[in-house]
Amino acid sequence: MKNVPEIKLKLKPAYEEHRHELNAAIQSVLDGGQYILGEEVNAFETEFSRFIGVSQGIGVASGTDALVLSLKACGIKHGDEVITVPFTSVATAIVIQSCGAKPFFIDIDDSCTIDINKLETFLKRNISKKTKAILPVHLYGYAVDMEAITSLAKQYGLWVIEDACQAHGALFNKRRVGSWGDIAAFSFYPTKNLGAFGDAGMVVTNDAQLSEKIRALRQYGWKTKNISESMGINSRMDDIQAAVLRVKLKYLDQDNQRRIKLAEVYHQGLEDSPVIRPSIFADLRHIYHQYAIRSSDRDGLKEFLAKHGIVTQILYPLPIHLQPAYRGKFDSFGGLETSEKTAREILSLPIYPQMGKEEAQIVIETINHWFPKE
Ligand SMILES: Cc1ncc(COP(=O)(O)O)c(C=O)c1O
Repeated sequence: MKNVPEIKLKLKPAYEEHRHELNAAIQSVLDGGQYILGEEVNAFETEFSRFIGVSQGIGVASGTDALVLSLKACGIKHGDEVITVPFTSVATAIVIQSCGAKPFFIDIDDSCTIDINKLETFLKRNISKKTKAILPVHLYGYAVDMEAITSLAKQYGLWVIEDACQAHGALFNKRRVGSWGDIAAFSFYPTKNLGAFGDAGMVVTNDAQLSEKIRALRQYGWKTKNISESMGINSRMDDIQAAVLRVKLKYLDQDNQRRIKLAEVYHQGLEDSPVIRPSIFADLRHIYHQYAIRSSDRDGLKEFLAKHGIVTQILYPLPIHLQPAYRGKFDSFGGLETSEKTAREILSLPIYPQMGKEEAQIVIETINHWFPKE
């Protein structure tokens, strides 16, 4: 095969597409002189929470902080357990630990998200007094079955804290993720479907009391300036990020549609290829933050694509329970084989709104010229 131009996740085209609008938004913050928790942050909180379909949005410094503050506001503390999956960003487990609680792992299924059947069986047979919350992760932009999760949570008296850090705009039954649980966390890390020019995050909820707690917790526990009524942290959103995100939010649905179209191209083009395509293509629950395929010779494929200038990513090479820092530290319901197998086989192909169909065709053609090792 001939060499092809380098194809990888690119952040710059997103900037180039809206250069004038973004520059003007940033300039206006610089001119205004209000850099933290100012008018841009207020406006973005209103606009993003409206977009998700909830009444409250609280801008914070990262997705990690959005999760920590959500857990704290729900009262998760030392001795508690929070149900989640091991096949996710390590941040998902770190945040539970940083409240003094422990993650309790349930395996994933083919969708790379929590196996609802296993969750249900665990709750029926083994739930303990320590279990306080479910933290579903909408991984790769795929919406978890939130009807099932919220109904189980109601039945067993558990909080639902959605990790929507990879799923801005994804829908489950025509309702955006982030609007289903008691509370939800978003990350605006630059590579996300809605990405800032640095770190930023948001908590969204319909619960005014949780929102009030988080507004205090994100700034030293203040309700009034310099009076700490709770033990908070410093996790404030800055106005330059909010201004950038307000511009990009206007294009988010359109950008997600462009990703979905590219995923369609991949899905058709890879039909007879040697790789396994995401098994969940048919429903409308995906906004393709990642288009992740599988192969038992994943490393061979990655190397082959790299030789042809196509940069891919492995998200995630190790599930949390096998990470050196966490091995043997957390409990799970039965084995976690699907998470382990997925981590060995998964590979994210390039996908971003400004990518052309022609580029996706090059990726497809290259994969179709590859022979896996048996
Ligand atoms: C699933 C998931 N949870 C949590 C986070 C943490 O977000 P942040 O990097 O903004 O702290 C991320 C982002 O990397 C993520 O992908």
